[in-house]
Amino acid sequence: MPDYGSFYIEQGRVSASMRQNRVWHPNTQMSEWARMDEVVRGDGMYLVCADGTRLLDGVASMWCNVWGHSRRELVRAISRQAATLAHSPLFNLTHGPAQELADKLVGIAPGMHRVFYSDNGSSAVEIAAKMAVQYWANIGEPRSRLVSLQNGYHGDTFGAMSMGQNPEFFSKFKNHMLKIDHIPAPNAYRPVRGHTKQDDAEMCLEAAEKRLAKGDVAALVMESGAQMAGGVQIFPRGYQSTISKICKRHGTLLVLDEIATGFGRLGHMAEYVWQRSVPDIAVFGKMLTGGYATLGATLASKRVADAFLGDFAESRHLFHGHTYTGNPIAAAVALENIRLYARHSLIRRVRSTSKVLGGFAAEIGSRRLVGDVRHRGMVMGIELVVDPQTGAPPRSAQSMNRIVYGIAKKHGVYLRTLGNIIMLVPPLYMDPAHIRKLGAATLRIIDELEKRF
Ligand SMILES: Cc1ncc(COP(=O)(O)O)c(C=O)c1O
Repeated sequence: MPDYGSFYIEQGRVSASMRQNRVWHPNTQMSEWARMDEVVRGDGMYLVCADGTRLLDGVASMWCNVWGHSRRELVRAISRQAATLAHSPLFNLTHGPAQELADKLVGIAPGMHRVFYSDNGSSAVEIAAKMAVQYWANIGEPRSRLVSLQNGYHGDTFGAMSMGQNPEFFSKFKNHMLKIDHIPAPNAYRPVRGHTKQDDAEMCLEAAEKRLAKGDVAALVMESGAQMAGGVQIFPRGYQSTISKICKRHGTLLVLDEIATGFGRLGHMAEYVWQRSVPDIAVFGKMLTGGYATLGATLASKRVADAFLGDFAESRHLFHGHTYTGNPIAAAVALENIRLYARHSLIRRVRSTSKVLGGFAAEIGSRRLVGDVRHRGMVMGIELVVDPQTGAPPRSAQSMNRIVYGIAKKHGVYLRTLGNIIMLVPPLYMDPAHIRKLGAATLRIIDELEKRF
């Protein structure tokens, strides 16, 4: 009989450099990453690796970090809550952090009335879709179709994938997707053939009007402000507010996914307010906890939430729930995060540091390998192309992400690209000096890439 106890203890003693990586990493060709740098701690704006390398966190640890790492107040909030109540379910019970956070969130998101918690963004979007579909069933109207935008991204679970449309990510699963109609989304860099940058958005709005006019659409699901994973495609001013009006006109619910763009990423707490669009359901995640715990929140208007009320026997309640729904540690750290936003006037600060980041756009855009630079708030998408006429991306056997990671590491920066797009998504609180360091490193990275492509 093998002694599994001592086996695991032995494994635990193996040093980080000798250990075989048994972790299956997300969206990763594992053969390309036989060896991975191991992060041992976070220190402000830096991730510190086992070999002592300090990497400036240029992508806010997948777009969720707000304050940098090891922020004292957030760490304390977590340990305080863990010592008081680490987890109790929201089934039959409630708890203070979930209640207080829901109050705060409806304050941040005008027009919203009730908050449903989950533990990641994909689930939060799935919940939004289920809410929308069940809403129509509850009010006894036969609307069941969902519509979303081409080039969108809402997560990697089947429902979320179906609402998104990213051939590179999802083509392997195309025969298993939910039946969802996709309408064109504005793309100023690559307008639909025959259209100009100006009439591209117009054409997209016409397509939305035409599809929603059929009267069978339960909800239109889209990202708010910009399609982030679609390559930082920033919506032209007026597009989202017109979409909101079209939804109203045809009685379609509007679901706005603010997971990547809300909480200040584009310079506004609720991006939809700035976009003058009125959702029926709004979804938050990522920066909600400052990047310190995993939490999603799906917020519904009173009209939507009230449609779920009634006698139990009517079966109107929302048929959804997760074990860790509204976990108290995640809720407590989200509350502390929101307090810090107010204490540090973070949104005002983002609007000014955004200019420092944006200050690099022209120089980056002048590089031969750069086809387009898109910037708003604290995000910049840099599209690499080898031929500006055709917009063809650089090709190599290795992924662009692997190549850029290696070069960026030499310059002391952590980056993760999206295909041929270099994403700069710093923690919101990053100071101008570090943003300059990130911008300067990016220029050097592109210079090195130009020697290869
Ligand atoms: C707009 C948007 N929605 C949903 C998601 C999915 O969130 P998660 O990765 O937490 O499942 C993402 C993730 O990047 C996103 O950008």
